[in-house]
Amino acid sequence: MTPDVSAPDMVIDARDVTLALGEGAARVEILKGVNLAVPAGERLAILGPSGSGKSSLMAVLSGLESATSGSIHIAGLNIVGLSEDGLAEARRGRIGIVLQAFHLIPTMTALENVAVPLELAGHADPFGEALRELQAVGLGERVSHYPTQLSGGEQQRVALARALAVRPALLFADEPTGNLDAATGETIVELLFRRLDETGATLVLITHDAELATKCSRVIRMRDGKIVSDTLTGAEVVGA
Ligand SMILES: Nc1ncnc2c1ncn2[C@@H]1O[C@H](COP(=O)(O)OP(=O)(O)OP(=O)(O)O)[C@@H](O)[C@H]1O
Ligand SMILES: [Mg+2]
Repeated sequence: MTPDVSAPDMVIDARDVTLALGEGAARVEILKGVNLAVPAGERLAILGPSGSGKSSLMAVLSGLESATSGSIHIAGLNIVGLSEDGLAEARRGRIGIVLQAFHLIPTMTALENVAVPLELAGHADPFGEALRELQAVGLGERVSHYPTQLSGGEQQRVALARALAVRPALLFADEPTGNLDAATGETIVELLFRRLDETGATLVLITHDAELATKCSRVIRMRDGKIVSDTLTGAEVVGA
């Protein structure tokens, strides 16, 4: 049995992580023994071909999917073997997630979308805090708009505000600019990096964009369910 210990000061400490889905002949091995330690303040980019397991790795590290074997400590907490409720509880306040499709709640205004996780976390003033978060991403004038009344770039700003509102130790972003034109994507990346400086969150960024990856402090490449390279870029991390 793997002892229940994790390296100190690592926001992510994942060892020998595997993920297999399906049963019998349909069983597919998706992650094949991933080891990854990420210190606080790092900006980690994950590159790799389509189907190499990037989103699957993010799913197990963020507790959206249960790993088949291995150990995963997130901010010191072992999340392997937790129930669905336990995983949800572990994510709350520790982990923020931004995806390619913005996944805002369509029946709620921008302000309500950002206030929801704050309310769930028991924040004393969820709407006041949500307003400040939206102002921090330049959307102070759009708080009463519904997602369909916002551009793609604006929706992604709301998603970013929502993910960072609870001050998670760790922000996962899976192709956060994938649905945006190049100029809007660049603005979102600048904003994302600025908000990381301001909030101190550690970043795990999945991207197909090698240029964007070089703005991160470390780049790993995945192939066929494994990490095949791991490079420090020398890019400066301001707020770490
Ligand atoms: N629920 C599932 N059941 C079976 N196989 C799956 C499931 N989800 C993903 N896979 C497979 O796992 C592999 C890795 O998928 P994953 O989505 O992690 O890749 P990715 O690197 O994020 O790719 P992309 O760049 O296209 O987003 C793929 O071969 C995919 O078909
Ligand atoms: Mg993916």
